[in-house]
Amino acid sequence: MPLTIAELETPIPVVDLDRLARNLDRAAEYATAHGLGLRPHIKTHKSPRIAGEQLTRGAIGVTCATPYEAEVMSEVCDDILVAYPPVGHRRAARLAALAKKVRLTVALDSMQAIDDLAGAATQAGSTIGVCIELDLGMHRVGLPVVDDAIVLARAVRDRPSLTFAGIAFYPGHVREPVDQQTLKLEQLQTTISAAIAAFDAAGLHPPTVSGGSTPTLWRTHELTGVTEFRPGTYVYNDRTTAAIGACAWDDCALTVLATVVSTAVPGQAVVDAGTKALGREPMRGTDTVDGFGSVLDHPEVFVKSMSEEHGILDLSRSTWRPAVGDRVRIIPNHVCIVVHLNDVIAGIRGDRVETSWPVAARGRGYSL
Ligand SMILES: Cc1ncc(COP(=O)(O)O)c(C=O)c1O
Repeated sequence: MPLTIAELETPIPVVDLDRLARNLDRAAEYATAHGLGLRPHIKTHKSPRIAGEQLTRGAIGVTCATPYEAEVMSEVCDDILVAYPPVGHRRAARLAALAKKVRLTVALDSMQAIDDLAGAATQAGSTIGVCIELDLGMHRVGLPVVDDAIVLARAVRDRPSLTFAGIAFYPGHVREPVDQQTLKLEQLQTTISAAIAAFDAAGLHPPTVSGGSTPTLWRTHELTGVTEFRPGTYVYNDRTTAAIGACAWDDCALTVLATVVSTAVPGQAVVDAGTKALGREPMRGTDTVDGFGSVLDHPEVFVKSMSEEHGILDLSRSTWRPAVGDRVRIIPNHVCIVVHLNDVIAGIRGDRVETSWPVAARGRGYSL
């Protein structure tokens, strides 16, 4: 293990351990203060070690998207929500096998998914909790009509291998700056309350109402009826999260450490972090900031374009002029993609590399 970040090969994601701990603490304290269950989405870190830190701080379980994430997380967590439709025999079979080991809940929105999951669970001899997914504005997955969701909940209740666990939604359409979310949160509240009332009237009280995201993290308590929330990005944060005010610039814990490899073209510097290190993720929720990432100590310098292994820093708004061989740390637009592009994360305190951990749930874990 090298001792200082100057000795690390680049590009590599580095995590400021103090910032990480602060981000984890702050969300855990918020959950406690408002009586909310924190069930972090681990797609951001894909690491049992970070999940362990979340659970130690009081998280009630974790959320995953893929069977592999759930399998890897079962090393440290015995209460897992897979917030992704369990469609397809292989996917359902992996989940059903996992449900023998942990308390597993799955969110879904179709009869086909119920059939696939119930069949797989019966075959495996396991029982799986089911949350019915509602579309409350994102228009990705989830049923827009509550009566249709109630039909599915009844079908779940009728399957011996499934239990009705409640309802789930993802407010991914709320990406405005935090202080401009009020209207959409009020609309969400209206639909959540109506959905809960309709389920209650149908004799299907939802024990769990699962929602939440990082952009809305600090306003979750305004949504009466929500029992648990699932932010993921908040562990590391990123340029998008800072731009909408859901975190401060100083709360961005993960940066991509890169080396300046060329300054030959005037007005720019080229670093060794391109799309294969940073991803090509646009900014969301703001039109005042552009590019694909910006420099930690010089936020006015942004990645204006990329090739696979080249990131082009735009220096036009800065007096700072890096030299070939200099190291820079780049805050990515969307941190989850950066993590998934890398095998290992370095944990740093100041300039010291204190630890490292693998991105253990990276990939799909298929065995062919
Ligand atoms: C279903 C679901 N829940 C929770 C999250 C976490 O949200 P965020 O990335 O805003 O932290 C995501 C993110 O994609 C998601 O898809």
